Amino acid sequence: MAFVRCNEEEIPPGPVYDPTPLALDYPDNFPILDIPSDNPTTVEGVLLGRMLYYDPILHRDSAQACATCHLQALSFSSPGNIIPHINLGWSTAFLWNGKVQGSLEKIMTFESEEFFQTKLSRLERHPDYPGYFFKAFGSEDISYEHIGKALAQFERTLISGSSKYDLYLRPDLPVFLSDEEFLGFDIFFTEKGDCFHCHGGILFTDNLFHNNGLDATPGDGLFEITADPEDIGRYKTPTLRNIELTAPYMHDSRYQTLEEVIDFYSEGLHQSPTVDPLMKNAHQGGIHLTAQEKGYLIAFLKTLTDTVYVNKPELSSPFF
Ligand code: HEC
Ligand code: HEC
Repeated sequence: MAFVRCNEEEIPPGPVYDPTPLALDYPDNFPILDIPSDNPTTVEGVLLGRMLYYDPILHRDSAQACATCHLQALSFSSPGNIIPHINLGWSTAFLWNGKVQGSLEKIMTFESEEFFQTKLSRLERHPDYPGYFFKAFGSEDISYEHIGKALAQFERTLISGSSKYDLYLRPDLPVFLSDEEFLGFDIFFTEKGDCFHCHGGILFTDNLFHNNGLDATPGDGLFEITADPEDIGRYKTPTLRNIELTAPYMHDSRYQTLEEVIDFYSEGLHQSPTVDPLMKNAHQGGIHLTAQEKGYLIAFLKTLTDTVYVNKPELSSPFF
């Protein structure tokens, strides 16, 4: 026994699992961010998630990384039908048709396991990744669950709350909206424009599913998932934060510019059996704004652009 104990003492101490808690910083007027108790945010977990997000090793053929399509400069979108990654920590239903419902951990596990079909053995054989998984989760075992947890931790740090509009709301800062922006704000948040019913609140999305009147014979949308005829043509409400940066617009990228989107809400709405009751003006084709009012609305939407977010070093690739 003594011999064994002596030998054990000679083994150099292994790495210690001691992750550093990371408090997420978001404006006071945002809703409380729920963080699952089995995946607290840590410096080590966020770093691992950030590496995995930017590393093509996650993809079955190493053909692309998450960041190949989700570009920081474009608010983690790219010129395709991509819902930008902003404040997704507050979302509980994902993808345009709501295919994945639940936590950020769940969608991130789905993205690795089913979309990228990550080969776990490649990460296991990598000289550094097992060590990073140990630091983040206390085990060198590499599983889809841990990949999903790390990606979710990183994704929760993708918080945008520094647009001109956010600064305007802060009483301690001398930031004001121009007359045009303020008139647009008024259209957005009143029955005149009626945008706030779905894109309202400080996140600029209700994170629910609606048929906003794009078509008289709407596509499947949430119906594909629920098979409930009421859900035909209902798609996830995208946030309007950073909307200036994320063209083209709508689930099928049908509009190239914000001008086209506003023309649609103004005079292009279609009636259909599942058009949302909140689209109160669908029966008359839209909200009928003048050219000047359309300009005001777009000026307001552009106050939601957050250049701090798209340039934040902590959200960029960790590899350069
Ligand atoms: C080839 C381009 C491409 C790559 C690579 C890619 N995505 Fe996406 N991503 C998309 C598109 C397109 C959508 C919208 C598709 C839909 O809703 O059906 C999307 C949607 C998402 C959403 C849902 C957002 C929401 O608001 O519901 C998440 C989360 C996401 N991607 C995460 C990832 C992660 C994590 C990776 C890497 C593992 C990744 N994506 C790689 C194109 C890509
Ligand atoms: C009934 C809810 C509802 C109302 C009211 C509404 N929207 Fe939308 N909006 C949606 C949904 C849902 C989508 C996504 C539809 C799709 O792609 O099929 C969307 C998409 C958009 C997009 C494109 C976003 C992107 O990332 O592609 C913009 C811009 C937009 N809306 C602005 C507005 C403005 C401005 C108003 C007011 C004039 C408004 N919306 C009123 C639900 C609504």
